[in-house]
Amino acid sequence: MGSQGYKLVVVANRLPVDQTVEEDGTTSWRRSPGGLVSALEPVMRAADGAWVGWSGAPDVEAEPFDAQGMRLVPVRLSGEEIADYYEGFSNDTLWPLSHDVISPPEFHRHWWDAYRRVNKRFAEAAAGQAAQGAVVWVHDYQMQLVPALLREMRPDLRIGYFHHIPFPPLEIFAQLPWRRQVVEGLLGADLVGFQRGGDASNFIRVVRRLTDLTTRGQVVTVPRNAPPTAPGEEPPPHGHGERHVRAAAFPISIDSARFDAMARTDEVRARAREIRHDLGDPSILLLGVDRLDYTKGIRHRIKAYGELLDDGRLKIPDAALVQVASPSRENVEAYQQLRDDVEALVGRINGEHGQIGAAAIYYMHHSYPPEEMAALYLAADVMLVTSLRDGMNLVAKEFVAACTDERGVLVLSEFTGAADELSGALLVNPHDIDGMKDTIARAAQMEPREMRTRMRRLRRRVLDDDVTKWSQTFLATLTAVPARKVDPTP
Ligand code: F6P
Repeated sequence: MGSQGYKLVVVANRLPVDQTVEEDGTTSWRRSPGGLVSALEPVMRAADGAWVGWSGAPDVEAEPFDAQGMRLVPVRLSGEEIADYYEGFSNDTLWPLSHDVISPPEFHRHWWDAYRRVNKRFAEAAAGQAAQGAVVWVHDYQMQLVPALLREMRPDLRIGYFHHIPFPPLEIFAQLPWRRQVVEGLLGADLVGFQRGGDASNFIRVVRRLTDLTTRGQVVTVPRNAPPTAPGEEPPPHGHGERHVRAAAFPISIDSARFDAMARTDEVRARAREIRHDLGDPSILLLGVDRLDYTKGIRHRIKAYGELLDDGRLKIPDAALVQVASPSRENVEAYQQLRDDVEALVGRINGEHGQIGAAAIYYMHHSYPPEEMAALYLAADVMLVTSLRDGMNLVAKEFVAACTDERGVLVLSEFTGAADELSGALLVNPHDIDGMKDTIARAAQMEPREMRTRMRRLRRRVLDDDVTKWSQTFLATLTAVPARKVDPTP
């Protein structure tokens, strides 16, 4: 950095590294494999960037340090704050509220207090790192109060916010006792980005209904309450008196070239063949890959598959389903309940249809490195993405990017952000079990010619619109916010 701070600051709940405890008891930081990291790494390197986030563990008090060409700024959370702010308000209030209340959201005042307190800590950390006039990019639902808090502390900044999950319709959002504070938090940004046009429209409708502000299309006019600039100081952008907040869709993507390249390596191709072989070389290999989350429709998909076996439309050992369900938010009760339900269902179907040496479902409650995922995608014939609600769903895009042999069918829920973009997939309504069964059967029987045509279309889209393009488009839109001269007269 220059001595004056960083020109680009990212604020996200998690740092792009996890703190791990080694065997000898010492701690070290390891790069976490998330898509956001690979997307922002080149931008951060080039722009002299800092990343403010949580280490993933309780009570980690660490000084900012340099890694991967950027400044990492850990924010400390106590065990109680993890319970109230992260597991509570973020993942048991906002998460279900934003996903069609599939699980009932819980509203607790002490969770809200922790959310406010933690958001303030993140805003202070960002304010302490940002250079004069810097760009700060705030990410996701855990940080919705940060834009306004930050603007209050640092009116000189350009602030962008991106919402990675769905923004709920007014009728659902209105349940939140602190709905107005959340909207005001977001309106601290200059640009508020969403996955789909529908999310941006939901947000604008919420602004219209819950505030007195004027909106024009996707632009909200907000009174400026920034302190007056001192004589000789550079005035903040925009006219004094008011500023504009723009809402728009910026559908996120993946590092497509990386998945494509991985799937072309000899190691990954050999591993894909080995996976099929170890599963008894089924003629139809179906695959599901998800965080173990109730939004992903894992039960619905397994139920449909089980019924296809009951009906004799799929048979063991001709068919096999591999379901990777990576552990997630394991202290939240709804996730514990889901795990019990999914595992009972898998056990029942395996008991009814499995054979010695040939299970009906290979269920894995683990996370795997990207090379193993690429091999699984390459090995699969049919990828099942059946979310009940999903901001985007990057697994669908990873599968497409890894299908370098153009063999494979994507069955995709219409309730994902990805469904807006990925024509070439077979769309399903996961609540319609009969419809989903027909679509899975169709995918399993698809002629290679149709499969290739569809996969080519999908690959063109995913390889063109990658995550670098996404971050560049967002940042270019944010920095294009007109810097209007401030009228010096009162
Ligand atoms: O989809 C929203 C998201 O926050 C992703 O950014 C993240 O990868 C995932 O949910 C899991 O989040 P966490 O483990 O931090 O709760």
